[in-house]
Amino acid sequence: MKSRFVVEGLAGHKKLRGTIAVKGAKNAALKALAATVLFEDTVPFENLPDIEDVKRMQELLAGLLAPSEVEGPVLKKDIAERLRASIVLTGPTLARYGTVTFPFPGGCVLGERPIDLFLEGFRAMGATVKEQDDLFVISGSSTSLGAGKLRGAKIFFPSVSVTATETLMLAAVLADGQTMLQNAAMEPEIGALIEYLNLCGADIAGAGTPTITINGTGGTLLRAQGRAYITPPDRIETGSFVILAALAGDEVTITDCEPRHVDALLVLMRRAGVTVEVGNNFITIKQGPTLLKSVSVRTHEYPGFPTDLQAPMAVFLTQCQGEATILETIFDGRFRYADDLVRMGATITVMNPHKILIKGPTPLTRKELESPDLRGGLAYLIAATVAEGTSTIDNAYLIDRGYEHIEERLQKLGLNIQREEV
Ligand code: EPZ
Repeated sequence: MKSRFVVEGLAGHKKLRGTIAVKGAKNAALKALAATVLFEDTVPFENLPDIEDVKRMQELLAGLLAPSEVEGPVLKKDIAERLRASIVLTGPTLARYGTVTFPFPGGCVLGERPIDLFLEGFRAMGATVKEQDDLFVISGSSTSLGAGKLRGAKIFFPSVSVTATETLMLAAVLADGQTMLQNAAMEPEIGALIEYLNLCGADIAGAGTPTITINGTGGTLLRAQGRAYITPPDRIETGSFVILAALAGDEVTITDCEPRHVDALLVLMRRAGVTVEVGNNFITIKQGPTLLKSVSVRTHEYPGFPTDLQAPMAVFLTQCQGEATILETIFDGRFRYADDLVRMGATITVMNPHKILIKGPTPLTRKELESPDLRGGLAYLIAATVAEGTSTIDNAYLIDRGYEHIEERLQKLGLNIQREEV
């Protein structure tokens, strides 16, 4: 059954009050789940978010070695086509079993999302790549360690990719020899994974820098020995709550978060005039000036402004005084929300696939909406909260993919939001 959210807007009034705790990071948990393939024993998880994408990843893992017509481990097509993170599973699976079969990964439609960096990296590690009936079949070559193994390699990424960095890093953990990943992604979720893998027998250096060096174990599996992987707080959820609180909060404290992971956002919030107080693991947003000032944004790999906060930020800018541009440098199809915000009353000009101009402030009014993608869906929740009247957001599944029981958590801040089965 499909469900949708019904949100009674606050008509621009800042009424939300209370605390909201941030859950574990989707994009950390999914990769740590993929990494469990490298382990001899069971990996205990803490702070795992209860979200749809985690369930899909668990299903992929459970089905990995199920008997099939193809020999070797296979990523189930129907599931892998639903989430991009499925591709991360190819690295550890290839490393452990010497072969992996998978479809082109799905996930949010954000423009082109190629996989050339993954395939080139696997080839550099001695693997062969075959395409058969819409499936990729990757096989390790023979090294001194035997058939199907990978060898360490020096891999330079022509562009920075989060999942390619993670996938090839995980592939390299069991490889023969040293792998060096250059121009690697520096997202904190990767650092959390490295820290845990190193506790369990991996040898990875360079977390949080553009050069990650992995000394392969030569096939020895990792061992958790009861040590839990503790999912770090979701920085995109943190940032989205900051934006929601800035637009609709009287006083809201966001707890269980890592404020330094959202510095790129907080700096802009302060510049716009939002009153932000930061503690060790919490952020408080208080009512500041009635009129916020526009600030231009340019998305960038971490530690820059995250592309995943770009849509919520656009909603924020519709309520600020002045003109601002958003320059999206990572993806070329991430303004699909613009038309809907315009229908709600925003003044947005799409200048090209990478740039929009927003003029504010403009009051927003209720609309029937449908989530364009996971992060866009949350942006619509924020827009509906700010708007006058009751809005609906169809396709709640897209929001449930990444945000745990969002309606229950927002209700506690005083928002009238309901889930309706349709
Ligand atoms: C990750 O996607 C996240 N997903 C995305 O979050 C996030 O938006 C993105 O990183 C950027 O931060 C997961 O971690 C599961 P990329 P990913 O590869 O890894 C190009 C969410 O809602 N590229 O870093 O797919 C690509 O086209 C999602 O949680 C190649 O050219 O992003 C893009 O322009 C949405 N060839 C750029 O790199 C490749 O082989 C960066 O993408 C791979 C990527």
